[in-house]
Amino acid sequence: MANKYDVVIIGAGAAGLMCAATAGKRGRSVLVLDHGKKPGRKILISGGGRCNFTNNDVAAHNYVCRNPHFVKSALSQYSQWDFIGLVCQHGIDYEEREHGQLFCLDSAKDIVKMLVAECDLPNISLRYQTDISTITQRETGFSLNVNGETISCESLVVATGGLSMPKLGATPLGYQIAEQFGLKMVPTTAGLVPFTLHKQDKDAFEELSGIAVPAVITTEDGTSFKENLLFTHRGLSGPVVLQISSYWLPGQKVSIDLLPMLNLAETLIELREQHPNQSLKNTLSRLLPKRLIEVLITRGDITDKPLKQLNHKEFEQLAAYFHQWNIAPNGTEGYRTAEVTLGGVDTDELSSKTMESKKISGLFFAGEVMDVSGWLGGYNFQWAWSSGYVAGQNV
Ligand code: FDA
Repeated sequence: MANKYDVVIIGAGAAGLMCAATAGKRGRSVLVLDHGKKPGRKILISGGGRCNFTNNDVAAHNYVCRNPHFVKSALSQYSQWDFIGLVCQHGIDYEEREHGQLFCLDSAKDIVKMLVAECDLPNISLRYQTDISTITQRETGFSLNVNGETISCESLVVATGGLSMPKLGATPLGYQIAEQFGLKMVPTTAGLVPFTLHKQDKDAFEELSGIAVPAVITTEDGTSFKENLLFTHRGLSGPVVLQISSYWLPGQKVSIDLLPMLNLAETLIELREQHPNQSLKNTLSRLLPKRLIEVLITRGDITDKPLKQLNHKEFEQLAAYFHQWNIAPNGTEGYRTAEVTLGGVDTDELSSKTMESKKISGLFFAGEVMDVSGWLGGYNFQWAWSSGYVAGQNV
């Protein structure tokens, strides 16, 4: 009897805890299983320790999913305003940063404490360091072998997250469960991840490591983001690169506008009037970091000479170069540093209103394990809260 629950949730992360609290409040008996030692490990390190827990402006277009409409129902059933309400109810101070991103003022620990407090009901149990060896479908519900013990439940929620940051406990268990029950998968790959560069570019730009510039970055199919670009020892990072990485396909080039705030050709023409003897290098070094200009001259991408020796055509060529700096990434840093996993359980397999499998009654998915990945900016946690809540309402 003690090993029978209405609901078993695999994963005590963002989606699993939200799902447990929601189902528990409905009076369901709930067991949450996690192989780690504590809950919400990704929440704790998120947002530089301050957890960017949601965004003031959340819409379907902030998500990458094969079915762009899938997220709409869950996001409206449990919106950012619902989560902000919960945060306020728990007296957690937060601040708004640029692009509507909401962060804890004090610590991400506040969010984990809040979720654990929400789960503090007599009908909710949390068990850590569990090893799930088998999952079997029964006539009604499922039975699981957990640390050698049999546990049965009516509803099973898979909230095991994605593959990013294996050192924080990421495993493919959720995908294996989907495959075991014959659910289709969208191939997985790292998202919100820095780019690595081909050797020649890496060797040239690694000395710029730490330099950041505002930029607009655009993929070959025209998807574009405007934020900071950061040069690293391995390649390119910064918010603009993380955002575009979720849309970039291997082998493609990206086009980077290194001077999105101005029209370079017009600016150079004006500056030539004012300072005809000034060198191109010194002129450009007033607009962009000097070390970057020096590297581009060393590479032979631009030639230094006094402005008065440059004609209109050359100004246009320089403008084209800096406004459309084309670079072909070699790849990404992969799951080791990625914030999310693109792909996962195919949303065609799931009801967008309940998160239940269309084929297997009683089997639910919540959070990043499915083919839903948000932009940088609190969207991934919002998806975990919304999908976790919806699953919790229907288990
Ligand atoms: P999550 O990964 O949170 O939880 C999955 C749980 O399942 C884990 O507790 C894990 O231990 C457990 N599990 C896995 N395999 C298991 C197994 N075999 N057996 C039992 N348990 C198992 N997003 C955002 O919106 N704002 C932000 O500021 C950040 N910042 C950020 C920083 C970093 C460094 C990373 C890596 C990620 C972010 N994210 C983020 C993304 C965000 O953390 C992520 O999308 C959510 O945590 C997903 O929530 P889930 O509950 O789906 O998975």
